[in-house]
Amino acid sequence: MLSRHIEGALLLELFSRDGIGTLVSTNPYENIRKATIEDVGGILELIKPLEKSGILVRRSREKLEMEIDYFIVQERDGMSVACAALYPFMEGKIAELACLAVHNDYRGTDRGGILLAYLEQKAKLLKIEQIFVLTTRTAHWFQERGFKIADLQSLPIEKQKIYNYQRQSKVFIKHLSSSITT
Ligand SMILES: CC(C)(COP(=O)(O)OP(=O)(O)OC[C@H]1O[C@@H](n2cnc3c(N)ncnc32)[C@H](O)[C@@H]1OP(=O)(O)O)[C@@H](O)C(=O)NCCC(=O)NCCS
Repeated sequence: MLSRHIEGALLLELFSRDGIGTLVSTNPYENIRKATIEDVGGILELIKPLEKSGILVRRSREKLEMEIDYFIVQERDGMSVACAALYPFMEGKIAELACLAVHNDYRGTDRGGILLAYLEQKAKLLKIEQIFVLTTRTAHWFQERGFKIADLQSLPIEKQKIYNYQRQSKVFIKHLSSSITT
C-alpha cells in the first residue's frame, strides 16, 4: 500500500531497499540470528569499509569462515545490516565482544544496542560473567552501555599474548548481572 501524498511513491517503493509502503509478510522482515557460512559474503561487505578505515581489525575470508559460529547477524529483508561476534574464554568466565558493526544506512536506531543485549544474554546462558572489548574509536559508545576501562592484565592470557601494541586499543570490560531476560 502506497500513500498518494508522497511524490514518487511508486519509484521509491520499487527502487529503494526499504521502500516506503506497507508490507505484509509471512516471514520475519528483520531478525537477529546465528550466522552461517552463507553469511560470510554479507559480513565481509559490511566490515570491509570499517577495516579500511582502521576501525575494525582486518579479517580474511578464511578466518571469518573458520570463526563464523561465533557470529550473529541482523538480517533485514535478506540483507545483513549488522553483525557482531562473541568469543568465549570459558576458563575465566569471560568473553570478547568483537566485530560489532552496523551498516551506515541503519545506524542510530539502536541496532548496535540490540546486538549487544543479544550477545549479553547469550554470554549469561554460557555462565560468562564479564564481556570485554578492544576498541580504538568507539570507547564512548561502550562506556555509555556499562563498559568500564580496564588494563591489559584483566584479559585472558591468550589474548594478552596477541595484543597489538601498534594499534593501542583500549580495553573495556562489562560485568554482567546474573539475571536472564526471556
Ligand atoms: C558503534 C555502532 C555499532 C553503533 O551502532 P548503532 O546501531 O548506530 O548504535 P545505537 O543506535 O545503539 O547508538 C547510536 C548512538 O551511538 C553514537 N555513536 C556511534 N558511533 C560512536 C562512536 N564511535 N563513539 C561514540 N558514540 C558513537 C551515535 O552518535 C548515537 O548517539 P545518540 O543516540 O546520542 O544519537 C556503529 O556506529 C558502528 O557500526 N560503528 C562502526 C564500527 C565500530 O565502531 N564498532 C565497534 C568496534 S569495537
